[in-house]
Amino acid sequence: MGNISIKTAEDIQGMRIAGRLASEVLDYITPFVKPGVTTGELDRLCHEYMVNVQGTIPAPLNYCPPGYTPYPKAICTSVNDVICHGIPGDKVLKNGDVVNLDITVIKDGYHGDTSRMFFIGEPSILARRLTQITYECMWLGISKIKPGAHLGDIGYVIQQHAEKAGYSVVREFCGHGIGKVFHEEPQVLHYGRPGTLEKLEAGMIFTVEPMINAGRREIREMGDGWTIKTKDRSLSAQWEHTVLVTETGYEILTQSAGTPAPPEFIVPPAATQQVVNA
Ligand code: MF3
Ligand code: CO
Ligand code: CO
Repeated sequence: MGNISIKTAEDIQGMRIAGRLASEVLDYITPFVKPGVTTGELDRLCHEYMVNVQGTIPAPLNYCPPGYTPYPKAICTSVNDVICHGIPGDKVLKNGDVVNLDITVIKDGYHGDTSRMFFIGEPSILARRLTQITYECMWLGISKIKPGAHLGDIGYVIQQHAEKAGYSVVREFCGHGIGKVFHEEPQVLHYGRPGTLEKLEAGMIFTVEPMINAGRREIREMGDGWTIKTKDRSLSAQWEHTVLVTETGYEILTQSAGTPAPPEFIVPPAATQQVVNA
């Protein structure tokens, strides 16, 4: 507790830019996410776009937290029962698949981290519902963000919404503080109790990125050192935004032209005070 950094005005400007760029990679790749494409091709296209068009660095490439081997690709592609950290490769996406594309870019030293779900062709009713409920979970969690709220408030509403739908929340991975460092304090759990854990203050920046399983919450690690799947082989979904705590609530940093609209029940926080007659 107590080690969560408060970003400076300069940091916040840098994080707005990095966040928008990460989201723009998802906008760029969207028309390519179709039956017949390989996850490796999606990685290659995103990597080229980051380096050659944006002048950003793909943060996952060679990322190596303690106990891991260096991550070998520029993005994560998590298909069907893959919960997270799917490594792009020869896998051909086919009609009915669901895939999460998770993008983290570095621009001028700042990280922007965001992910979306994509349907390949026509999804099953279950895939569509799981994806929608998970999107609502992320947004319900974000809607709790304001100074004085607790991290446990976020986890609680996510867990309630997922479990009410008959789904489960992955416990082993969580949201995280982010800035000049990819993963920093705090850990943002996607389950919990209201009023518990750290109190939020304006200027904190962290991700909300719930991983929700259609079946049981237990995970299984693949032999590649990264890929995480559901133990019961049920479908899993995830959405992610990078979010700033503001005086009145929150600001989504990972926004671009193609960002999906929030669910209808979301009431945006009051605009941060602007200086009109400067
Ligand atoms: N982008 C992921 C997150 O949301 C982390 C991926 S780490 C990687 O935190 F090395 F697998 F890319
Ligand atoms: Co993240
Ligand atoms: Co991410």
